[in-house]
Amino acid sequence: MKELTPKTIVEELDKYIVGQKEAKKAVAIALRNRYRRSLLPDEFKDEVKPKNILMIGPTGVGKTEIARRLSKLVDMPFVKVEATKFTEVGYVGRDVDSMVRDLVEESIRMVREKKIDEVYEKSKELAIDKIVEIMMPFPSRKRSSNPIEMLFNPVEEDDSLEEEREHIRDKRKELKEKLLKGELDQEIIEIQVEDNYSSTVELFSGLGIEEYNINMGDIFGDLLPKKTKKKKVTVKEAKKIISNQEAQKLIDMDEVVEIGIKQAEENGMIFIDEIDKIAGKDYGGGPDVSREGVQRDILPIIEGTTVMTKYGPVKTDHILFIAAGAFHVSKVGDLIPEIQGRFPIRVELENLTEEDFKAILTKPKNAIIKQYKYLIGTEGIDLEFTDDAIDAIARVAYLSNEQTENIGARRLQTVMEKLLEDILFEAPNLDVKEIVIDGSYVNKKLMAYIREKDISKYIL
Ligand SMILES: Nc1ncnc2c1ncn2[C@@H]1O[C@H](COP(=O)(O)OP(=O)(O)OP(=O)(O)O)[C@@H](O)[C@H]1O
Ligand SMILES: [Mg+2]
Repeated sequence: MKELTPKTIVEELDKYIVGQKEAKKAVAIALRNRYRRSLLPDEFKDEVKPKNILMIGPTGVGKTEIARRLSKLVDMPFVKVEATKFTEVGYVGRDVDSMVRDLVEESIRMVREKKIDEVYEKSKELAIDKIVEIMMPFPSRKRSSNPIEMLFNPVEEDDSLEEEREHIRDKRKELKEKLLKGELDQEIIEIQVEDNYSSTVELFSGLGIEEYNINMGDIFGDLLPKKTKKKKVTVKEAKKIISNQEAQKLIDMDEVVEIGIKQAEENGMIFIDEIDKIAGKDYGGGPDVSREGVQRDILPIIEGTTVMTKYGPVKTDHILFIAAGAFHVSKVGDLIPEIQGRFPIRVELENLTEEDFKAILTKPKNAIIKQYKYLIGTEGIDLEFTDDAIDAIARVAYLSNEQTENIGARRLQTVMEKLLEDILFEAPNLDVKEIVIDGSYVNKKLMAYIREKDISKYIL
């Protein structure tokens, strides 16, 4: 965390998101403040409350994308939830507490993963030993069950057995070498795998049991004998499966849970998307479930409360909340005042310009143009775009946003798909090594539609 200064956070986000400086800056500062707080003496720590952020901006300009990228960037428990998924307590659907339960779940998963990494070498070695045992077992004692025979002839038998064992021990050493080098990775062996109990919860969700997120496997998992089954796998897979099993035994789950909860409480982040959809009084979904009700349910979580999870109570006082919404129909002022008050930092995301579109097409690590180049590349065709083609695509996208509905950068996807429709269809049958898309191709394929009145029919 130390090396993640606000500046580097913004730089990282810049790799994927064009523009939106203000929003990037705000989340970067909020993140750094978490770290700063962690350095404070305990008596201050409690006083420093997170400054929650509200991102406001039209659809398709990067609100969710910022959250998504942020979560990959930071080594902190992070969950993204949609406000529209929640219903008031007492109604069928997800209750708001579940966002905290999800966060803890995620946090524990992260801690567990880290612990497993720590014991990785050890568990790998244990796994190899187990595989040796499977591939070359010691002969079971041939001891006769007849006690009289044993009385007469004990020494001789033990001797031969000992000899044989010595021999196998040598062979095992050889085998282990080979396994370590990966020479036998393709061999097939039979191993025992655990049949885990899971998904029992799904059956009950909606009936309220989900509230406690009960996993039958967790409750009975240690009481019931673990169900195992035999499975044929390659040695390579066996190494992975068995070292996972061994790692699981090596880590202290109680400690993982304890750290996990603490991490969630101190460093957790919850991104509430589509918050505008629960603003305002009327509710599209049903007659009784009110948006305001959901807001009232969310409020205590944001203000700081204790949520019961299957791992224990979790305090939400220091969890950072970032909410986002287009606020097309409803206004920020339609949120209940208490909620508004809990989001002291407001950032507005800007509408994207034609220039931004050009950058979005080409600059991000996962830029759309790059994606199509890779896709067509799989057919053995090199797809190239001239600069004026990029200009034209951006222009068409921008114009169709103006003339029809403004769907932000999402428009680029629909435009590109339309533009490359024929090529995507024909590519496997084409006998060319390279296709160059230039401005006139784009114009021919798309510009005609722009002038027509109902362009959405073609480009959407
Ligand atoms: N500023 C941007 N830079 C790069 N890509 C962007 C940008 N804005 C949007 N995109 C692209 O458009 C897609 C939609 O954006 P995103 O999901 O962030 O929209 P949003 O702002 O959350 O809109 P909504 O209010 O509809 O949820 C993203 O997957 C991303 O590929
Ligand atoms: Mg979104």
